[in-house]
Amino acid sequence: MLYSEIRTKLKKQNKREFKQGAAALTHLLQSRNASSSSYFKQEAGLLISELRDPNFNYELPLEFDVPFPPIQSPEFTFIDLFAGIGGFRLAFQKQKGKCVFSSEWDKHAQQTYEANFGEIPFGDITKIDETNIPDHDILVGGFPCQPFSIAGVSKKNSLGRMHGFLDKTQGTLFFDIARIINAKRPKAFILENVKNLRSHDKGNTFKVIVETLEELGYSIFSQILDARHYVPQHRERIFIVGFDKHVFKDSFHFSFPTPPEQQPKFKDILEKNPPSKYTLSDHLWGYLQNYAKKHQAKGNGFGFGMTDLDGISRTLSARYYKDGSEVLVPRGKDLNPRRLTPEECKRLMGFPEKYIISNIGVSDTQLYRQFGNSVAVPVATAVARQIVDVMKHYLERSINPKHLALDK
Ligand SMILES: C[S@@+](CC[C@H](N)C(=O)[O-])C[C@H]1O[C@@H](n2cnc3c(N)ncnc32)[C@H](O)[C@@H]1O
Repeated sequence: MLYSEIRTKLKKQNKREFKQGAAALTHLLQSRNASSSSYFKQEAGLLISELRDPNFNYELPLEFDVPFPPIQSPEFTFIDLFAGIGGFRLAFQKQKGKCVFSSEWDKHAQQTYEANFGEIPFGDITKIDETNIPDHDILVGGFPCQPFSIAGVSKKNSLGRMHGFLDKTQGTLFFDIARIINAKRPKAFILENVKNLRSHDKGNTFKVIVETLEELGYSIFSQILDARHYVPQHRERIFIVGFDKHVFKDSFHFSFPTPPEQQPKFKDILEKNPPSKYTLSDHLWGYLQNYAKKHQAKGNGFGFGMTDLDGISRTLSARYYKDGSEVLVPRGKDLNPRRLTPEECKRLMGFPEKYIISNIGVSDTQLYRQFGNSVAVPVATAVARQIVDVMKHYLERSINPKHLALDK
């Protein structure tokens, strides 16, 4: 049976939303006889009986006709939280990791994710009990960047409490990451956020995050990485990596990857003949120029970003769909510039060519948001490689090796 035949069964009449229980069923299909499958059987079973299809037997051989099917002989397991469209999943699958659980609440992002991986992420993570998440080696979470304040509890107040994070981070999405780490004890994790997380609330937010993760018994390493060495885009993000101190003893050290020497050029990601609908109208182009002039007069530098074809672009944001002003493509003297096509955004974020975005029923607006929210895949891949290498190396040499939670 083909996975795409099952997808058709799972779609409701309106072809937009998947049926209740579809996330569990697709997770079950990805895991089948592996130990993680037990987490999904009950909920998936309800849907299977509702489908009332005598030909449908999830134990029959299944061919995943999607661009990124589950890894065949996995070497470790991971979970993909705040999954977006799977930038991190691509990075960890490339290291031979098997994803055993994903969560992403945005319906459109779920659609893009499903089209590429053959798995529908579960929804709102705040509503998912940690006991319903399979065991895993690595927890991955590019959590949302909206500024959030953490009620920093002073050291004195938290003294004597086992897990101060319950008080300190309640009501934030970081709390959900912390409670899952606390319950599932992954050997390592990687979190990603905007660079400003470090300076938010005078550094207090970041301090509480690091303290919380250390209180949970992890060694923490963090660094700001700029995607410009991998893709022609200035994109600085903070990466926080943690290793369980019970598994990786004190001598353990982690280094972030050294960026390659190469300097990718913006022109290399452009399409040859982009459709004319991406060219800015006279009205919008006039507006952007006036706006920039006004702000220049006031001494504010920021206007639109006309990108140097031999250079790199500004950061692609989730609001790119509004006017595209931060990354404009010049089209020659006297011609209005254009915005990027979604296919070009895909390349600017370093997604592989075979990642599909056309004819999957997701609008340009949503695709712009999805790519603007995503991690730059080659950066995530470089960090993922480093984590997996160091982890395997350490566990092989360790006197008392703990085995990876393989899920074949
Ligand atoms: C910064 S993006 C991460 C994107 C992802 N790393 C990627 O590469 O595509 C954060 C994502 O978290 C999702 N999100 C926000 N709140 C959520 C929640 N409560 N439960 C599940 N997903 C959530 C958003 O819809 C968004 O796609």
